[in-house]
Amino acid sequence: MRYEAADRARRVTVTQDGPVLVEGPVEVVLDDGSIATSDRFLVALCTCRRSRRYPWCDTSHRQRVRSQPDAE
Ligand code: FES
Repeated sequence: MRYEAADRARRVTVTQDGPVLVEGPVEVVLDDGSIATSDRFLVALCTCRRSRRYPWCDTSHRQRVRSQPDAE
């Protein structure tokens, strides 16, 4: 694993009930040992494990509210 010196600390932002936002680029080591990489300026890491693009957030953490048909 390679670490590089940074001019300043990398910012990581925790959001309530949502992803962790990390300044990119990033390498994410998954629990099976594989590595996911992203060169984006800001990366959203899924914390709910519902993302179909895990480890990246795909907004699946948001609650979906179905509209109820009118009761008769
Ligand atoms: S945190 Fe957004 S999909 Fe999991």
